[in-house]
Amino acid sequence: MILTTGSAGFIGSNFVLDWFEVSDEPIVNLDKLTYAGNLNNLASLKGNSKHVFVKGDIGDFELVSKLLDEYKPRAVVNFAAESHVDRSIHGPEDFIQTNIVGTFHLLEAVRAYWGRLPPEEQAVFRFLHVSTDEVYGSLGKEDPAFRETNRYEPNSPYSASKAASDHLVRAYHHTYGLPVLTTNCSNNYGPYHFPEKLIPLCIHNALTGKPLPIYGDGQQIRDWLYVKDHCSAIRRVLEAGQLGEVYNVGGWNEKANLDVVNTLCEILDELSPRADGQSYKTQITFVTDRLGHDRRYAIDASKLERELGWKPAETFETGIRKTVQWYLDHQDWVGNVTSGAYREWLGVQYGG
Ligand code: NAD
Ligand code: DAU
Repeated sequence: MILTTGSAGFIGSNFVLDWFEVSDEPIVNLDKLTYAGNLNNLASLKGNSKHVFVKGDIGDFELVSKLLDEYKPRAVVNFAAESHVDRSIHGPEDFIQTNIVGTFHLLEAVRAYWGRLPPEEQAVFRFLHVSTDEVYGSLGKEDPAFRETNRYEPNSPYSASKAASDHLVRAYHHTYGLPVLTTNCSNNYGPYHFPEKLIPLCIHNALTGKPLPIYGDGQQIRDWLYVKDHCSAIRRVLEAGQLGEVYNVGGWNEKANLDVVNTLCEILDELSPRADGQSYKTQITFVTDRLGHDRRYAIDASKLERELGWKPAETFETGIRKTVQWYLDHQDWVGNVTSGAYREWLGVQYGG
């Protein structure tokens, strides 16, 4: 069996759901259930004895040690993190606590467990750390895409905390020989994406007649990857990645934010037209820019393709259409997550 952390969140829950489509190996899923964790994401696994959910913190050394000794996983996949850049700007503390201190305690528990395993189990054990392209900083228009050898230049409290966790993971391999793997991925989108992030926020706001907030001039570039492609990349790295190595994961889909939102509006105009016949584009509203906003991210995922044969299955065009359709079909899920706490956040970030 494997142990995953943070798998009631967006990417982790997609990973668990996809895992059971291709494998019958059990999963223990440890998640603190912060505002971003949602057991409804895993509702289809109700009654599946191969999925064990445990509410708890990756920073709880005793709990993690107990789970490791009880379930004896052959791998740990660490998704758990505070993940929203804007929240890290308003309040970095939780990011330092979970992403740095939490990862440290998790690594300590895993190191001790790994040290107790017999040699043949030690040899196959893996700790896979899920990280982000944001650790590499911001690119100029003509710069080549991020490679695994780029230096770390994180610019937000979020990316700095993820960078610190990547360094800890690297150090545990170098110093203690812990068998680690790290993936640094670009922006994900798809089902179960919490509607505080650009794509699900704009779909939700469009359908509820609210402004579609574009920070600054909307020309910041992100490299978008359909979440299921990220999940397949993680499975592949877990299966065949070289110990201590880092793999960049991306979709070769660089898009300016304004173009992404225009595309969303066009798909919504087609699939769920406004009653007044106007385009959703009329709801686009330019708002104050994010502090320290990174201008461009782009991932060079050629190492993963060359060494492990992984390629994304979706283009942006196919993935974004599936995503909009998913939100149209799952308005009940959106209704459940856009609770009081969610509305409070909108007040903090966008005012009013
Ligand atoms: P998310 O915010 O949707 O989910 C995070 C999950 O972690 C939630 O279920 C939350 O309850 C849980 N969690 C938070 N603190 C915890 C703690 N201390 N102990 C246990 N669980 C805790 O995040 P996501 O978008 O699914 O991202 C998952 C991982 O992938 C993160 O490490 C993130 O940095 C990384 N990543 C995200 C993206 C993206 O585009 N979303 C891209 C690249 C990398
Ligand atoms: O690059 C990977 C990262 O992608 C992950 O590590 C993060 O966990 C994930 O949240 C995401 O970070 P971003 O900051 O890129 O995602 P977000 O959806 O918050 O913003 C995407 C772009 O859209 C960014 O340039 C900011 C802009 N934006 C965002 C919001 C919420 C807007 O213009 N308006 C908005 O209201």
